[in-house]
Amino acid sequence: MLKVDNSVAGNLTWHQSQISREKRHKLNGHASCVLWFTGLSGSGKSTLANRLDAELYAMKVRSYVLDGDNLRHGLNRDLGFSALDRQENIRRVGETAKLFADAGLIAITAFISPYRRDRDVVRKIMGSGEFIEIYLDCCVDACRRRDPKGLYKKADAGKIADFTGVSSPYEAPLNPDITIKTDAVSEIEAVDTIICYLRGQSLIDL
Ligand code: ADX
Repeated sequence: MLKVDNSVAGNLTWHQSQISREKRHKLNGHASCVLWFTGLSGSGKSTLANRLDAELYAMKVRSYVLDGDNLRHGLNRDLGFSALDRQENIRRVGETAKLFADAGLIAITAFISPYRRDRDVVRKIMGSGEFIEIYLDCCVDACRRRDPKGLYKKADAGKIADFTGVSSPYEAPLNPDITIKTDAVSEIEAVDTIICYLRGQSLIDL
């Protein structure tokens, strides 16, 4: 058994699963990974994540969406929007997504995740090729025009502090695995791009 000592708790032992990830992949008929959407509020993360999830379901590929707004109702309900709280938000989500991938699923995450450093921390805890960064490239003006939740209006009026793209930074990925210009392509084109990528990487084989 492997001894590990990277936690404040100490005296911990890692218990290895008897079922390898390869065995789970064989059972499922596809590999697992984390599809990490990043982009401004209103750039289409939740919409695309759920559309992709439905397409994969129809293809009998096991996937699950972890969504920022949803997780902030439960697991991350104690966190706000300071840089430190966002860092902890992304750390927890990264660890959760890693568990999903270990369980053989394709985890689809939809978080603004505005800081490069926080996303890179998640990339590092994942195996090589298992963290797929998908940048939803949509300028703040287009997101503001859409404003599906009316949050830009509130932020512009000074009613929401630290609002990403208005009063808090967004650091675009420097070298994303996939970039989708969501103000220029249709939802179905965007989903097709991602499914083609998964096929190209032999993560799914359909
Ligand atoms: S992240 O920056 O920590 O990754 P996350 O994706 O979990 O953010 O949550 C973003 C969602 O919270 C937005 O889609 C929006 O609905 C809501 N929200 C509320 N306040 C803010 C804020 N100050 N900045 C950004 N999003 C906010």
